[in-house]
Amino acid sequence: MKTCLITGGAGFIGCEVTKIIENAFDNIIIVDCLHPQIHASQKIPPRLSSKANLIIADVTDPVAWDEVLSKWKPDLVLHLAAETGTGQSLTESSRHTQVNVVGTSQMLDAMVRQNAFPRKIVLASSRAIYGEGKWINSEGVAYYPGQRSNEQLANGEWNFYGSKFLPMNSTDNIPMPTSIYGVTKLAQEQIISCWCKSFDVNYSILRLQNVYGPGQSLINSYTGIVSLFVRLAKEKQIIPLYEDGMMLRDFVFITDVARAISEVLVNDTTNGKILDIGSGYGATIKEIAHLIAERYGAPRPEVCGKYRNGDVRHAQADISYTLDNMDWKPVVSLDEGMNLLCNWIDEELGR
Ligand SMILES: NC(=O)c1ccc[n+]([C@@H]2O[C@H](COP(=O)([O-])OP(=O)(O)OC[C@H]3O[C@@H](n4cnc5c(N)ncnc54)[C@H](O)[C@@H]3O)[C@@H](O)[C@H]2O)c1
Repeated sequence: MKTCLITGGAGFIGCEVTKIIENAFDNIIIVDCLHPQIHASQKIPPRLSSKANLIIADVTDPVAWDEVLSKWKPDLVLHLAAETGTGQSLTESSRHTQVNVVGTSQMLDAMVRQNAFPRKIVLASSRAIYGEGKWINSEGVAYYPGQRSNEQLANGEWNFYGSKFLPMNSTDNIPMPTSIYGVTKLAQEQIISCWCKSFDVNYSILRLQNVYGPGQSLINSYTGIVSLFVRLAKEKQIIPLYEDGMMLRDFVFITDVARAISEVLVNDTTNGKILDIGSGYGATIKEIAHLIAERYGAPRPEVCGKYRNGDVRHAQADISYTLDNMDWKPVVSLDEGMNLLCNWIDEELGR
């Protein structure tokens, strides 16, 4: 009997993964608290595979973990449960740290107590661990500019003067998070990798870029810039562009991400590796906003002069190492993906 346990499996990414892996396992166990910021009701999400067994529990609760792991000895664990709001993590840092860091260590401690060592743990990490990443100056020298200061942002100095951003990649970049969320995701990576090495458990870490697509929470105002833009455009409101709107983001479609995760779960060639999962294409926020405004006949997006602490200027993955090391590539184009997402939002909000 093969069992896969997914923490946070009732969320956006988890539900999509359960649909892909439902026939590969005898049991799919979901540990999820159905966080009210993401789930409008405490009901089983309709996108979750009917083969999945949802246990409503908090990953920070050791008693809940003992109950789950005394009953189930998972072969594979996919760790998705997390507080995910980047901006929110600066004002609610204890909550983010508690769930993301302590929630991870509670899970591992319970595995030891219950002698429930899986064969492999897969962690959904984030591009947030890179922070501003690596840039190259006009003399061709690569460097890490670090976090933009309040003064820089207040003066509208969005870029690092005379420098060019280099796409992020786990084999080359040193992690330098600029948000508490990023710090907690890096801590998760390090906790999982050293624990797994100590107990001979395999692991893989996936650093996800901006995942978008049908199924993303429409009630969580702290994540999902695309769904926020769609809601504004549908109401014929002007989409406000932060900074100068020219920030790059790598939008990767949900089905591409779910395929990558399911491949990593079952394929041991990715063991011990940190892989960047993105489309490899950097779209400007302005480009995305215009695409959405045009679709809904909304006014042209406008730069509103605002910015957000903790946001990075650019994020785009260099996925060459990932493509070389796993049987996966992203296949959904930005146009196609945006269309699918907008069609889904239209249906959901029309209901
Ligand atoms: N969606 C993205 O763009 C993106 C990008 C980078 C990394 N990630 C990572 O991928 C993972 C999944 O993200 P998602 O987009 O599916 O998020 P999501 O918010 O849709 O899903 C997270 C799930 O975790 C559950 N959860 C939250 N706190 C919990 C707790 N204390 N105990 C048990 N369950 C809890 C929520 O109820 C939710 O169902 C996260 O770890 C996130 O950091 C996501």
